[in-house]
Amino acid sequence: MSTTASPREPKDLAASVRVLDAINRKRAGTALAADEIAGIVADFVAGSIPDYQMSAWLATVACQGLSTDELTALTRAYTASPRQLDLSRIDGAVIDKHSTGGVGDTTTLIVVPIVAACGAPVVKMTGRALGYAGGTLDKLESIKGLRVYLPTDEIVPMVNSIGMVITGQGADLTPGDGATYALRDVTATVESIPLIAASIISKKVAVRADGLVLDVKTGAGALIPDRDRAVQLTETMLDLARAFGLSASAVLSDMSQPLGPSVGNALEIRQALAELRGRRSPGLWDLCAAICRLMLQSVDSGLTDEQAMTRINRVVDDGSAYETFVRWAVAQGAAAAALEAEELPTASRRQLVKAAESGWITRIDPRTVGQATMLVGAGRLTHDGPLDYGAGVLLQHRVGDRVAKGDVLAELHYDRGDADAARQLVESAFHIGDQHVTAPPAVHQIFEA
Ligand code: URA
Repeated sequence: MSTTASPREPKDLAASVRVLDAINRKRAGTALAADEIAGIVADFVAGSIPDYQMSAWLATVACQGLSTDELTALTRAYTASPRQLDLSRIDGAVIDKHSTGGVGDTTTLIVVPIVAACGAPVVKMTGRALGYAGGTLDKLESIKGLRVYLPTDEIVPMVNSIGMVITGQGADLTPGDGATYALRDVTATVESIPLIAASIISKKVAVRADGLVLDVKTGAGALIPDRDRAVQLTETMLDLARAFGLSASAVLSDMSQPLGPSVGNALEIRQALAELRGRRSPGLWDLCAAICRLMLQSVDSGLTDEQAMTRINRVVDDGSAYETFVRWAVAQGAAAAALEAEELPTASRRQLVKAAESGWITRIDPRTVGQATMLVGAGRLTHDGPLDYGAGVLLQHRVGDRVAKGDVLAELHYDRGDADAARQLVESAFHIGDQHVTAPPAVHQIFEA
């Protein structure tokens, strides 16, 4: 008797034969037809193709790449859904934004209320964290009572009365992406430019806003760390968005160090509220201002940079951006008091990370900081793993700062988990040298619409 386990029998032999044939031809360099790609995605969503065959197809695509026509076909296939979102009853042109994700990146919670307070409606569908990078939905769940999944029929009235909505995007709006993303995550096929582009742009096509701003990260903590490849991803997404009739612009932003000083769910909510009240932290604020400007210009092409910045600064300084956030959170179920700093979840324990020597901070590795927060429960190790909303890291310095031996570099906030290992990780994330280095700019490049 054989002791070798055999793979599970495919449920639908015809679908399996089709996908195996497509894998063979794609591997040999032949482009796949649009209806063939649509069929593979539909069969996978329907459960007719087993995970192991879809994984092989995704791996082949990750290695061979996709032609422009194939990429368009895959994006369209991802959006094939019986559920549609109709934003046509929103008063005014609607704006959307998307970030490829990072550490200490709480931009969505800052830019959405600012742009809404400037009078431009924003619908932002968002997701959860997996791995070391944070997720907006998880951050929002640290606000007591806030409903993070808003029923579709409440979206339009909410935007019309408050100017903004941030809600979880259920996988049913882009079922092909929902099904394949979960598989990519466990088969090392996330970091493929065409697969990322189809995944992100399909979600934007499903929402179909009038203006779209993409925030693509580059640097050690980014999905695509290499700068040239990050530019290639940006250009691929912009071309793809335009092929679907979306007016899109982009920023290439820095993720060679954590974007903001707070890393962790409730810590990032506090940070966002402080920025909305005018704190303007270096790095985080610079990127938020650039994204806000592009968002406003995406639906008003005559608006100059100066005019846009005047509006953005005005709604922060007069409190209306902060008030918009509070009105939205209350409309989506939170009590206004739940936004007070003392009402947000707070970890009860602290460990300080101190400089072992004097010098200049030359590097703060964002992945290592993100991994440290996971060790104390602020990040998710599995799709449905529990989170500690108060846990995380507060960074006291940025690259380019001068520190003396014994200065506090960061504070670890925690209740459980391996705090000693997390503190050591944060310590190892900081590199101190005897030469001054200039801090990298928060925004490396802007791609106008
Ligand atoms: N974010 C997405 O939505 N999809 C990807 O493939 C990668 C990041």
